[in-house]
Amino acid sequence: MKKIILDVDTGVDDAMAIVYAAHSPELELIGITTCFGNVTVAEATRNTLAVLEKLDKPVPVIEGAKETLRRGEKARYSRHVHGEDGLGNALSTPPQGQAEPGIAADYIIDQVTRYPGELTIIAVGPLTNLALAIEKEPGIVTLVKEVIVMGGAVTVPGNVTPYGEANIVADPEAAAVVFGSGLPLTLVGLDVTLQTLLPRTQLDAWRSSGRNDAIFLAEMSEFYMEFYESTYPGKGGCGLHDPLAVGVAVDPSLVRMELMRVTVVTEGEQTGRTVGSTEGEPKISVCTGVDADRFLKHFTSRIIGGEV
Ligand code: BDR
Ligand code: CA
Repeated sequence: MKKIILDVDTGVDDAMAIVYAAHSPELELIGITTCFGNVTVAEATRNTLAVLEKLDKPVPVIEGAKETLRRGEKARYSRHVHGEDGLGNALSTPPQGQAEPGIAADYIIDQVTRYPGELTIIAVGPLTNLALAIEKEPGIVTLVKEVIVMGGAVTVPGNVTPYGEANIVADPEAAAVVFGSGLPLTLVGLDVTLQTLLPRTQLDAWRSSGRNDAIFLAEMSEFYMEFYESTYPGKGGCGLHDPLAVGVAVDPSLVRMELMRVTVVTEGEQTGRTVGSTEGEPKISVCTGVDADRFLKHFTSRIIGGEV
């Protein structure tokens, strides 16, 4: 079993990633850290706790960054994609649970130090918590087993600007710190995640599964699905960005990777752009191909509790 920390900005596909990870016996979900991004950090924490309540699984949640590493500018949230509450307006009652005391960056440092060489971090929001942890304790870079990041668009256009993907545009300086740190990193960007789309028909299967968590995911996904259907007409579903990062942790053979040095544009019109090059160090593994059918089958069967 891989010990993992999920770092999230819980919107709809983050919620899917949490449920997927929790139902994957290959992974031991030791904690979830939260960040601003799709919504405020307080809302991301609340949404994460709400998803865990449906799962009925006690996982510690530790709140993290409420703003960018250095910009200090007001964060821009993605309520038009994920709904006013970040969960497709499907959150009817606030969760009972609470976050643990402490902050995400310190929690990451503590856990990496506690489990040297054993911990996988799956980061599916802006990279602020991880960047703060590296800046505070640079030694963690050699102690982490692997980091899988959903973010970037190395070979394809962006989704929030013509160049940038949402998680990187949200905090480009943080991404630059993480990509340049020497961490053993795999980048799961739009290059592959826009090939893994969830067809609308799956939502009916989730609804009739009888599982509280799958039903909750189906409810929150309506809004998210509508956003994709209007933004990418004819593509055939909504993006499984964050779930694919979990899929890569479970089974790296789902993707093809290429080693590249990835730099981040931090100024000007192309801010948030991820530029890949075969020259220079440090190199990270960039996913450039995916077996979309196999991933979709794996993901959906884990959500409804069927055989893979
Ligand atoms: C990423 O941005 C967020 O809106 C999603 O949760 C995902 O992590 C996709 O660009
Ligand atoms: Ca996310």
